[in-house]
Amino acid sequence: PETGCLSIVVLGASGDLAKKKTFPALFHLYRQGFLKPDEVHIFGYARTKISDEELRSRIHGYLTPCKGASTEHTEDVLKFLQLIKYVSGSYDTEEGFRSLDSAISEHEISKNSAGGSSRRLFYFALPPSVYPSVSKMIKNCCMNKSDRGGWTRIVVEKPFGKDLASAEELSSQIGELFDEPQIYRIDHYLGKELVQNMLVLRFANRFFLPLWNRDNIANVQIVFREDFGTEGRGGYFDEYGIIRDIMQNHLLQVLCLVAMEKPVSLKPEHIRDEKVKVLQSVVPIKDEEVVLGQYVGYTDDSTVPDNSSTPTFATVILRLHNERWEGVPFILKAGKALNSRKAEIRVQFKDVPGDIFRCQKQGRNEFVIRLQPPEAIYMKLTVKQPGLEMSTVQSELDLSYGQRYQGVVIPEAYERLILDTIRGDQQHFVRRDELKAAWEIFTPLLHRIEDGEFKLIPYKPGSRGPAEADELLERAGYVQTHGY
Ligand code: BG6
Repeated sequence: PETGCLSIVVLGASGDLAKKKTFPALFHLYRQGFLKPDEVHIFGYARTKISDEELRSRIHGYLTPCKGASTEHTEDVLKFLQLIKYVSGSYDTEEGFRSLDSAISEHEISKNSAGGSSRRLFYFALPPSVYPSVSKMIKNCCMNKSDRGGWTRIVVEKPFGKDLASAEELSSQIGELFDEPQIYRIDHYLGKELVQNMLVLRFANRFFLPLWNRDNIANVQIVFREDFGTEGRGGYFDEYGIIRDIMQNHLLQVLCLVAMEKPVSLKPEHIRDEKVKVLQSVVPIKDEEVVLGQYVGYTDDSTVPDNSSTPTFATVILRLHNERWEGVPFILKAGKALNSRKAEIRVQFKDVPGDIFRCQKQGRNEFVIRLQPPEAIYMKLTVKQPGLEMSTVQSELDLSYGQRYQGVVIPEAYERLILDTIRGDQQHFVRRDELKAAWEIFTPLLHRIEDGEFKLIPYKPGSRGPAEADELLERAGYVQTHGY
């Protein structure tokens, strides 16, 4: 691993994302020894004029103990906070960025007396509207200038654009300033343990290899459900809606890992090459394979317009035109304010031909990967009902992580991804062409929705969402199984 001075700049340091996700992830990395106090310094940057102490006290409450860590938490928090400095300035003038550069350089001079490279990581916890100007300011004022080597990298979050045209424009603006290996587009689903496990499951297990195709698989569901609404984020959410917030990024990324061909190797470019091919093979979405909903009470939020037509629920069927998946519906489903919190992949297999047990009434084989805590992988299968009779029952082969890996701490997605940005590993980040292909899939649908071509079905908060979505699933050939 590289050594030498590491400066991490959190832009938008007083915002929600920084407080809730970025700083806590950095704290956990520090706590586990990945950020060494003799190398690292963290800079918060934002417009608000506050002192170092004020920023530290704003962050303090969010630095919860790492799972599994017991003692010395308070002491660790204090030591970590001492690594943070604050610089204030605007996002579109050079003045603030020059002060930021001086603060970073000062730190580098003090730390680099021992030699080593200088590494500068800029984390954009910012609204995308300022991405172009901030990128320009960094390029003009804050690049690594050390003759001892090192790098400058930027980390950007979604929403990266609102549709194909705006995303491409943003990509070009940033692309003129930074090369692709310097740009890390975060999709935090790619940092989840069980999302990262997908490649291993698929390509390191003999039993899945011959089964993973249209001959055996009836349909695939990729589901995201939350049991709370848009509380506190209504303003942001209303501008984007559930498709841009969850489906175009998180669920589509998961779909790529489920559907892709085996990459030549685990090199980031090989993996991303295969993911892009999946996206490019998705055929245009049909209106009759879309159900949209909005939960009752969504517009009560004062930041949401009363006549909002933004969907908080969507079920969309994607179809891939390729040799492996022709005819297999990929059902993406995402909703806020539903009856449970869950994110899972459900791969449903076809019926057994010539079934002599008549067990298909009880349900089909299903392979389920539950991404969201409690993490689990399980397989629904038919077994003999224990006892004297020859009857069958649906049961599970169950790998629940909590039981199987007791005491093992599963890292937070952001923790893992930030570490990757420091290590220079882009495997779990979205490449420019991937982003473009993802927008190509959803942009026509999003425009049709905005033109009022769809009816929003109201649903009760705490429900399963619109019944029409279940009907769509049934039409797509999904067979409801019971049990888990
Ligand atoms: C974010 C969305 O990207 O993901 C939020 O903007 C959503 O609306 C969140 O709540 C869900 O993340 P997770 O990791 O809790 O599934």
